[in-house]
Amino acid sequence: MLNLPSEYRTTTLKDGTVSLDTRAFPHEALGEQTVVIRPDYIGICRADTKEIYGSRDVPEDRGPLFGHELVGTVSSAGAATGFREGETVTFNPNITPTRTTGFAEYIFVHGTAEQLEQAVVRVPEAGIRSNIWMPEPFSCIVHALKKLLELADLDSLRGKRVAVIGAGCAGLMFAMYARHLGADMTVFNRNEDRRSFAREQGILAETEIYALADVEEFRDGFDVVIIAPTIVSTDILKTSAAIAADGGILFVYGGTRAGDTFPPSKADIDTIRRQELSESVTHLGKQLDISGAYGCYREDYEEGFRLRAEYPEAFPLQKLTSRLISLEDFPELVTDIAAGKKDLPGKVLIEMPSAKRYISKA
Ligand SMILES: NC(=O)c1ccc[n+]([C@@H]2O[C@H](COP(=O)([O-])OP(=O)(O)OC[C@H]3O[C@@H](n4cnc5c(N)ncnc54)[C@H](OP(=O)(O)O)[C@@H]3O)[C@@H](O)[C@H]2O)c1
Repeated sequence: MLNLPSEYRTTTLKDGTVSLDTRAFPHEALGEQTVVIRPDYIGICRADTKEIYGSRDVPEDRGPLFGHELVGTVSSAGAATGFREGETVTFNPNITPTRTTGFAEYIFVHGTAEQLEQAVVRVPEAGIRSNIWMPEPFSCIVHALKKLLELADLDSLRGKRVAVIGAGCAGLMFAMYARHLGADMTVFNRNEDRRSFAREQGILAETEIYALADVEEFRDGFDVVIIAPTIVSTDILKTSAAIAADGGILFVYGGTRAGDTFPPSKADIDTIRRQELSESVTHLGKQLDISGAYGCYREDYEEGFRLRAEYPEAFPLQKLTSRLISLEDFPELVTDIAAGKKDLPGKVLIEMPSAKRYISKA
């Protein structure tokens, strides 16, 4: 085993409070079906911050998301896991709830070999720690666009006018991939900070990003509107429907909650998103197909790694990383983000001391 310690630090989320605590390392609990991962980088996701104040419905089959984006090293692998110590891995939180939080020095994932094969995914990109990006959120985008094409019976987005509402991490990755699939892209974002970030990082051109307030100029203008803000409110759905062309698609990706509908009391958009369905509605005299996607699978990670390796210029995912912080700084920053006191564009990552060792070797 890779020098497992006698104690380790991990975070706890309880009653809206995030704390960093030291615990005894559970050597005795490491069974045949446990993989222990030592993360080098851990991403903060909008869904993590929503769980702090309970503004996210937690699915029972996969448990809370709090601490799920990471790249790390297998520190210990039980005999029945199929993994080896030293492998570089990432994590898929959509498989098993029997795991500890990723906001920690060590993460414990328990499961059968089949579950672990889905939940712990090997990273083929050798230099990932020197050019860090988070595979899990990108895999969700890969999965979502595959689902969009499947539900719409399309082979690609070639020639399609595609809008994205929200230039957050999800919206920018949608823009990269939809553009790669041939779409003519336009992204709308409410506030200037994320619009500047997208332009300054070279992720979007001037002609690809607009203020959400400017949507009026684009009425009926898009074949597909991907809705990717923190909360998919009725107002945002109305705006999305206004810029969709007759026969267009509204694709729901951002946060929804049980009981959300659009048009009000018609299509159940939470079920459409979580169960990846498609439903036709009539609104403003237009026929619109509302569809959505949720989560991702191992093959979506593999497709994401392939896309990044084959088309590095189309997928500059490392440019989404906006800030590196320490695990010590995490509880205060994440609480401030959840409370709306701080809002940082791009992806904020916790860099663990172990990461530097790999970078100096790269
Ligand atoms: N379906 C899935 O499988 C799946 C997977 C992962 C994530 N998600 C969800 O996707 C959402 C976005 O994630 P992210 O990583 O992109 O988050 P993010 O980087 O924090 O970006 C949040 C985005 O939401 C926008 N926004 C927030 N409040 C808004 C409002 N009232 N009106 C208009 N825009 C608003 C922000 O715009 P400003 O810059 O103007 O604030 C920003 O563009 C989250 O809710 C997350 O839970 C879904």
